[in-house]
Amino acid sequence: MGIEGIMVVSGADFVSEVCEVKALEFHPAHDIQPIDRYTQNHSSDVTALYVPIAEHNGNGYGLSVGTLKFIGNIHDIGKVTIPPEVLNRSNKGEFISGDMEAMRPHVIGTYDTLKRISEDPDFVSYPAKRELLDIAMDVSSGHHRYEKENPYPERMPKRRSNIPRGDMKGLREDLAIADCLSGFKRKNGRIKKGTDVIETLIEYRPKLKRKIEKMVSDGFLQGLVNEHFEGGVIG
Ligand SMILES: [Fe+2]
Ligand SMILES: [Fe+2]
Repeated sequence: MGIEGIMVVSGADFVSEVCEVKALEFHPAHDIQPIDRYTQNHSSDVTALYVPIAEHNGNGYGLSVGTLKFIGNIHDIGKVTIPPEVLNRSNKGEFISGDMEAMRPHVIGTYDTLKRISEDPDFVSYPAKRELLDIAMDVSSGHHRYEKENPYPERMPKRRSNIPRGDMKGLREDLAIADCLSGFKRKNGRIKKGTDVIETLIEYRPKLKRKIEKMVSDGFLQGLVNEHFEGGVIG
């Protein structure tokens, strides 16, 4: 059974929930279910943005909506490897000295956590699920490589999937766009009007690395808002 089949049987949301449960088993210091409310909200915002962006820029790069949703849902699962007090300050935007550095390993944390899950007996016997995890590991490894300052990780981990290089690049760039654009909610709280959403997205766009910034045109942002934002709030 291929990835599409496994999605029909179990659904991306189910597989990502299993991954969350497993990740928390590995890191019991994070005993809040789910990992924490902020990361959960952030991940669903990223997913809501990622699917239309990847469909717009790359026609989904050959992946199903379910697979794209899975990637968005679990891209920050490595935050379970970050000390809870650091994660908590990060979620509130109350960084103290050293916290930014302490958050950076979450990317490799996502890779390592998904690798460990893929070796779990629950997954070993389902090659399609392992393939899904491999794709998510490869894409999520690149989601902070487009920061304007100090992109990370400096050395990318070994690739696991056989997605063509050009498609992988697009998948990573689009995840970076969704990740960056989702940040407007924390800054501005719940947005009431559609015009606020488009203005805030345009305000955030310069924070994206130049080559990504160019891809996120006014027309694209407006289309995204029209198609995917209900009453100005990400659906
Ligand atoms: Fe992240
Ligand atoms: Fe993120």
